[in-house]
Amino acid sequence: MNNEEIIVLDFGGQYNQLIARRVRECNVYCEVLPFTTPIEKIKKKNPVGIIFTGGPNSVYEKNAPTYSNEIFELGIPVLGICYGNQLMAHALGGKVSSAEKREYGKTEITLGDSILFDGIEKNNSCWMSHTDYVSQLPDGFRPVARTGAAPYAAYENTEKKLYSVQFHPEVNHTPFGKQMLKNFLYKICNCKGDWLMSDYAKNTIQQLKEKIGDKKVLCALSGGVDSSVAAVLIHKAVGKQLTCIFVDNGLLRKNEGDEVEKVFREQFDINMIRVNAQDRFLDKLAGVTVPETKRKIIGEEFIRVFEAEAKKIGTVDFLVQGTIYPDVIESGAGDASVIKSHHNVGGLPDHVDFKEIIEPLRNLFKDEVRQLGIELGIPENLVWRQPFPGPGLAVRVIGEITRDKLDILRDADAIFREEIANAGIERDINQYFAVITDMKSVGVMGDGRTYDYTLALRAVTTTDFMTADWARIPYEVLEVCSNRIVNEVKHVNRIVYDITSKPPATIEWE
Ligand code: XMP
Repeated sequence: MNNEEIIVLDFGGQYNQLIARRVRECNVYCEVLPFTTPIEKIKKKNPVGIIFTGGPNSVYEKNAPTYSNEIFELGIPVLGICYGNQLMAHALGGKVSSAEKREYGKTEITLGDSILFDGIEKNNSCWMSHTDYVSQLPDGFRPVARTGAAPYAAYENTEKKLYSVQFHPEVNHTPFGKQMLKNFLYKICNCKGDWLMSDYAKNTIQQLKEKIGDKKVLCALSGGVDSSVAAVLIHKAVGKQLTCIFVDNGLLRKNEGDEVEKVFREQFDINMIRVNAQDRFLDKLAGVTVPETKRKIIGEEFIRVFEAEAKKIGTVDFLVQGTIYPDVIESGAGDASVIKSHHNVGGLPDHVDFKEIIEPLRNLFKDEVRQLGIELGIPENLVWRQPFPGPGLAVRVIGEITRDKLDILRDADAIFREEIANAGIERDINQYFAVITDMKSVGVMGDGRTYDYTLALRAVTTTDFMTADWARIPYEVLEVCSNRIVNEVKHVNRIVYDITSKPPATIEWE
């Protein structure tokens, strides 16, 4: 089935994926394309609307991103945002000027009459982030909003279906932003809203059935959201033709291996091989203290174990990969995506005998993968599982990894997670875990002196995991965690809470 489609033309701004997510939240499918995309390709896609994103440049700069004016003549509605707004004015004969001071942050705005602002309070606030502003409108356009620093904070030419705003409707700090985008989609582009996860699941399962036929599929299951949803989706399409390999490397959280097995083998009756390779990994890691060496060993070992198991199955036709849409988007700012190579430790081996890669989540954002997971009946706790690094607890045991340290860490981490859940704040924090340091200190318990480990708690809020802030967990919750951990977990006598953001720290400690 072909969905109606919006094109988000990316000029390199930081919120560009967010625009696409907001559009999809309105049940309209959209794709992000770089501004270098030839117009022929856009025409071929026959979108119902086009959105120009923000970007870091000034339209007057040499080599500033631009686009063919033909795009304004297609009769397809266009919405310009921030840089896109300035670009539209500039391209059509208006004027853009540079202000002395940047207008940044929450800004009061007065909205005029426009379909774009239908049903929205006129005196409102929005999120601004610009130095340049449109100082003269092109012919045929009329102003429909203003702020202190932007006389044309929004303008339009309804005949040509061209609309433009200086502010950022996609961020939450623009309270009417979502309604405005909805107005653009439903009242200007006449969308029907046919992007629904229930349909997507049904259609994708059907397509997978046709593609796979009676062939064999292999999937590396990590217990994370992406590989889990991919596996269930394919299982629904081809049942026992799918085999999942789950490598238990001894570096999983408390009870994690059993929980994964329970869901996939018992609930879904998926063909699942659980490889108990704990000793193999831990023996290889014995005595290793350097973080990068740990990662390397785990990555290599994973591939060996996976290959050995795959060999037993023989040739498979398809190998599943949990690629999601943010991995696929080519940024308008060039290749701006900053992917750390070591983050792909959970990646797939080169030497497994397969004919084709299959990526059933390629078009979805993370939140859509979660929605799809719920749609497919995967338990909430798995669907909302926080990210867990490929090298697992190895990067949370500072210094040498021993079975004892891992046990201490597992128990402490489980208490921390339990208390975060008890406090009802698990969805407010994007990642939280315990780290066992390589340091011991003196304490007193009862009448006796102790000399035990210092354990650190780490919790962060983030949207993209590239930057993060430390979570302001209430003291009372931290207090309960601290008390419980030192009382219930042997060999821990001190708890510290990590209050560094990323940068300059990273989320994990190693
Ligand atoms: P850092 O520590 O770099 O982590 O701030 C950012 C996010 O990536 C996760 N992470 C990893 N994920 N393999 C993975 O699959 C890895 O080697 C790895 N290292 C870090 C980390 O948990 C956080 O969510």
